Amino acid sequence: MTIARGGRLPNGLDAAMERLNTSVDVDGALWREDIRGSVAHARGLARAGVISESDARAITDGLDRVAGEIERGELVFRRDREDVHMNVEARLVELIGPVGGKLHTGRSRNDQVATDLRLYCRRLTEETLAALGRLADVLLARAEAEIDTLMPAYTHLQRAQPSRLSHHLMAWQELVWRDRGRLTDALTRLNECPLGSGAVAGSGFPLDRAGVAAELGFERPTRNSIDATGSRDFLIELASALALTGVHLSRIGEELVLWSSSEFGFVALSDGFSTSSSMMPQKKNPDVAELVRGRAARGMGALMSLLALEKGLAFGYGRDLQEDKRPIMDAFDCVLPCLDALAGALATCRFDAERMKAALERGHLCATDLADLLALKGVPFREAHHVVGALVREAESRGVELLALPEETFAAAHPALATPERAGALDAALAVERRSVLGGPAKKTVLAAVADARVRWKNAASLR
Ligand code: ARG
Repeated sequence: MTIARGGRLPNGLDAAMERLNTSVDVDGALWREDIRGSVAHARGLARAGVISESDARAITDGLDRVAGEIERGELVFRRDREDVHMNVEARLVELIGPVGGKLHTGRSRNDQVATDLRLYCRRLTEETLAALGRLADVLLARAEAEIDTLMPAYTHLQRAQPSRLSHHLMAWQELVWRDRGRLTDALTRLNECPLGSGAVAGSGFPLDRAGVAAELGFERPTRNSIDATGSRDFLIELASALALTGVHLSRIGEELVLWSSSEFGFVALSDGFSTSSSMMPQKKNPDVAELVRGRAARGMGALMSLLALEKGLAFGYGRDLQEDKRPIMDAFDCVLPCLDALAGALATCRFDAERMKAALERGHLCATDLADLLALKGVPFREAHHVVGALVREAESRGVELLALPEETFAAAHPALATPERAGALDAALAVERRSVLGGPAKKTVLAAVADARVRWKNAASLR
């Protein structure tokens, strides 16, 4: 019989109910946080004079022993003890006797589990932030190393304008940077300590809430006991930031899948991040990118589960909330392994500069530049656009690039095009360097963007 049934429900739980009731297979993962929270609570009880110093010492020493047993795999959680909290407390009482029963003074599993969850989320968010930083490091290093690699920029997945690989890698980096910001932001709100909120209406004991919060590294105690025990928007915010991170990683994954196809041939993943086929001996598959792309779907599901769980929930803890753990754990699991795998794949892949350059040579990528040249000479851009559009049509009908049209054709299209500057306008490498506007792909602009990003990431890491 579990300790929570106490004197109220002397009869055992029906087996069907027990199967539904138990959560230790999932929340067992919170054991470190649970013990840490209990240690802080016990010390707080002693500071408040609610239990004696020696009782607190017996309890914290006992909790240490429980932790050791779990760490060494000696303590097997029992499903009939419901959850991690009951398993830890029951084992504590087994080890130190009835004094262990004083631990739960002034506490409910409702404020306990809310505290455990916040501690857990803080730890995993820190890990995620560190992993985001490692991915950013890789992106910045590759952006720097590949600074002279030119490639097309795409719209509608059609070649659009000349650009550089580093600029593209830095676009990925911007997404990752914002993901970092959202996670950090979620962290500021979740970093409050629910202990002392009790089941719903606080506690009559003079608990040292601020001291316990500080000991657990929280910014402050939560401000309202009903809210602290019954709200999970901190999980939703996190799951949202994580789902979006997953979506971003999936976009990078999608591009790696495309780029590693023979059709693009822009990148070759290293063997360490590729797989083969059980049937086709020639295959080298970009599974890392596909798995990252696929796992984001699960992350989105986790967010939906949490939103649905909270929707319409009356205030005050409801047991529905037990179902919040799997999705938030899944949300982290949908991002953390992806970050490290993607960082590894990107650190070890080989970009094919020749193939990227070749992609610049077909598709009239400098058409905008030719129109810009006309605009520079005073032709209204709309007219210039029309003139160049007609030239592209002409080139297409001849099966050549704009560049290869004869002099007369340009001159006939517009007199201002009969100029030697035309060659410069149609040179992809020069076209990239002309785009030195802030946020553009010119070499010096991208190098400055890399330097700026390095400073941002460094400052962000030192703030943590
Ligand atoms: N396992 C429970 C959960 O995760 C702990 C809180 C139980 N509270 C209760 N009133 N039955 O939500």
